[in-house]
Amino acid sequence: MTKTDDYQNIQVGIELKDSLEEFFLESCPFKTFEKWYAMAEKTEANVDAMSVATVDVLGVPRNRFLLFKGLMNSQFVFYTNYLSQKAQDIDQNPHVSLNFFWSTVKFQVRITGVAHRSSREFSRDYFRSRDRDSQLASAISRQSSAISSRKELLEKLGEFKLLLNNKEVDCPEHWGGYLLTPTEFEFFIYGEHRINDRFLFKKNESNWNLQRLQP
Ligand SMILES: Cc1cc2nc3c(=O)[nH]c(=O)nc-3n(C[C@H](O)[C@H](O)[C@H](O)COP(=O)(O)O)c2cc1C
Repeated sequence: MTKTDDYQNIQVGIELKDSLEEFFLESCPFKTFEKWYAMAEKTEANVDAMSVATVDVLGVPRNRFLLFKGLMNSQFVFYTNYLSQKAQDIDQNPHVSLNFFWSTVKFQVRITGVAHRSSREFSRDYFRSRDRDSQLASAISRQSSAISSRKELLEKLGEFKLLLNNKEVDCPEHWGGYLLTPTEFEFFIYGEHRINDRFLFKKNESNWNLQRLQP
């Protein structure tokens, strides 16, 4: 995971000093996330899979798993197709919720925030690092639109490969990153007898406030 070192401007109002160490919390939500992630990745096969929930223009919610690609300047990064359902949702309503569940350590982390498209340069840099098959698949897909068969998709892929003739695959205009700036983090640990521990960091102007929530 890419580390962020942009913590200097974050001040935290803490009412729970005694609970911090016991529940692996740091006074900064980003540092807590990195700590929990580091603990989970020792045992979790898909530590980078996160559920991403968006709401469309009619208020209909949808979620799907995406790959978490790191923190950049205190923003959560993911990549997708800008023609997809989720991209249409985010472009009209930038409020997005992420959720990680790591069963081996019994942690859940829910993050809510506002997402926007990354710069072309940022998207291109990551696109170049992907393997060629992933680049080709991204280039030919109109993600979330209907297609009659897998065969048609493979034909589309074949035609595109022929056209490219071994040339580099450019990052398509319809593909790129999103950066999510969090306004809330909820850290959840399964507890005995269903008395779970839940800690909510909520952003209040430039401060983060921490509260324990009832299970
Ligand atoms: C573990 C996992 C990781 C995935 N990662 C991505 C990803 O990083 N980007 C992406 O566009 N789709 C990814 N997908 C596919 C999405 O879940 C989803 O099917 C696709 O993005 C279309 O979603 P939409 O129609 O809601 O926009 C992933 C699926 C799984 C199961």
